[in-house]
Amino acid sequence: MATSSPARWLVAVLATASSLVPSALAEPYYKIGTSAEIRQSARTLAYDLMLYYQGNKSGEIPGILPGPPTEHKGDYYWWEGGAMMGTYVDYWHLTGDTSYNHVVTEGLLHQTGPNADYMPPNHTASLGNDDQGFWGMSAMLAAETKFPNPPEDKPQWLALAQAVFHTQASPDRHDDTCKGGLRWQVPPTNTGYNYKNTIANACFFNIGARLARYTKNATYADWAEKTFQWLWDVEYIDHELWRVYDGGHVENNCTDINKAQFSYNAALLMHGAAYMWNYTEGKPAKQAVWKTRIDGLLNRTLIDFFPGNIAFEVPCESRPGACSPDMLSFKGYVHRWMAVVTQLAPWTKEIILPVLRESATAAVNQCTGGDTGRRCGFYWSTGAFIDPAVDHTSGAGEAMSVLAAVSSLLIDEAPPPTTNVTGGISKGDNNAGSRSKDRPDPPAPITTGDRAGAAIVTIIILSLGIGAWAWMSFGD
Ligand SMILES: *[C@@H]1O[C@H](CO)[C@@H](O)[C@H](O)[C@H]1NC(C)=O
Ligand SMILES: *[C@@H]1O[C@H](CO)[C@@H](O)[C@H](O)[C@H]1NC(C)=O
Ligand SMILES: *[C@@H]1O[C@H](CO)[C@@H](O)[C@H](O)[C@H]1NC(C)=O
Ligand SMILES: *[C@@H]1O[C@H](CO)[C@@H](O)[C@H](O)[C@H]1NC(C)=O
Ligand SMILES: *[C@@H]1O[C@H](CO)[C@@H](O)[C@H](O)[C@H]1NC(C)=O
Ligand SMILES: *[C@@H]1O[C@H](CO)[C@@H](O)[C@H](O)[C@H]1NC(C)=O
Ligand SMILES: *[C@@H]1O[C@H](CO)[C@@H](O)[C@H](O)[C@H]1NC(C)=O
Repeated sequence: MATSSPARWLVAVLATASSLVPSALAEPYYKIGTSAEIRQSARTLAYDLMLYYQGNKSGEIPGILPGPPTEHKGDYYWWEGGAMMGTYVDYWHLTGDTSYNHVVTEGLLHQTGPNADYMPPNHTASLGNDDQGFWGMSAMLAAETKFPNPPEDKPQWLALAQAVFHTQASPDRHDDTCKGGLRWQVPPTNTGYNYKNTIANACFFNIGARLARYTKNATYADWAEKTFQWLWDVEYIDHELWRVYDGGHVENNCTDINKAQFSYNAALLMHGAAYMWNYTEGKPAKQAVWKTRIDGLLNRTLIDFFPGNIAFEVPCESRPGACSPDMLSFKGYVHRWMAVVTQLAPWTKEIILPVLRESATAAVNQCTGGDTGRRCGFYWSTGAFIDPAVDHTSGAGEAMSVLAAVSSLLIDEAPPPTTNVTGGISKGDNNAGSRSKDRPDPPAPITTGDRAGAAIVTIIILSLGIGAWAWMSFGD
């Protein structure tokens, strides 16, 4: 950590800006002392988060939060709708409240696209492997939690996750630059196509690990193993400190590592590693490797991202206004994923759960804003509500993170992720994704002229400053 006490520092800074004076010492609205209180709080948080969602109103698009910002339609990129659907799958799984299941089913199905692979035409032109991956992970979660199956004539949860995995495992998306790994973007013309980053590969790894455990098909495990190894070989994972970095560019053999550390990268790898540890039961040598990885990532995550046992988004949180809408939602995923790690890799439970509880307490203690007196912000460790306007968002990511942190406190009462032989009811498809096309039209052979053209488009985009965010993490 750059500063040992980000919380007090931030309060001091913000107190000087009169419009942002935190309502310090406001009485917490939410209680999370008992299971009943957690359920009640989660129920209200889920209700409030749904108010940001327009997707089930006439004329609106199911599955997405208002956006994308690039079209001035709202603060949120396409992927975050997928992440929100996953948050509500977990909410249902952890609390038993079915209120939003119809909204979630509709959203998860509406965005599958014509080939049932989470590449809907509206978004393929700006598709990142990570964007598609987040939708795939929510479908996988639906399979693992026995979320009610879609009608039989619709794509099934497991098959959707397989489709995402298969399209990403396809040779079209894997080339020899940097000796392997997925690129960030799918279309070659996009800014970021030359960037091989952690989150794209972590999503692919994660889905592979989970499909391996769910189906017991070693093909998935081999890919997961290979992908983690690649992240290690390019040293996006620090060999001594277990820090997880953001990515590097293919023209530099991925050695120009952007060392920004985002909490969700580390947590997503830890989560996938826990599936692999669980999957490799009975193979002590392999299991030991995964245990080392889990322990390393866990130790470092707690040190770097939970100062004072409260989730803290290192690269941007100490500078109000510096976190993008994407980043403002990361804490929620970290809480949800680490909660599941405790179910799959049991020795982590006593290390992780007390921290998640303290962090969730800080999360709810700052939910004292707005007309309701219970609106949530992002700056958990300040102990005071700070209006999401400081980060130029409506607050959906902030609300989603708190909902995730609170509902995940019920992890011990919830069944662990199922598999095909432990009660799973989702139907898979080994051919899922085989009809998918990365490009809408039959690809014309790429000529030198096209490549130059693509580079020029990129240069124009960069010179307009649109590419400035590209190093961070996400596009649409
Ligand atoms: C949208 O979903 C919410 C939450 O389930 C519900 O209260 C609301 O009535 C729904 N709106 C429509 C138009 O279906
Ligand atoms: C694609 O965008 C159009 C126009 O905004 C919208 O009507 C349609 O529902 C979208 N399709 C999907 C699958 O989101
Ligand atoms: C590129 O990096 C990989 C390790 O990530 C290394 O094995 C390979 O030799 C490097 N290639 C070049 C051309 O430097
Ligand atoms: C993680 O921390 C635990 C407890 O402090 C320690 O026993 C273990 O050796 C650490 N593991 C790694 C990989 O650093
Ligand atoms: C794997 O996960 C399941 C589900 O939580 C758990 O019951 C099992 O004990 C785990 N395997 C091991 C070896 O701990
Ligand atoms: C799951 O198990 C059932 C019953 O053993 C089998 O018919 C089905 O093919 C399996 N599905 C997958 C994806 O392995
Ligand atoms: C394992 O998964 C791969 C990829 O989906 C598939 O091609 C293969 O047929 C599967 N094997 C079995 C035995 O189901």
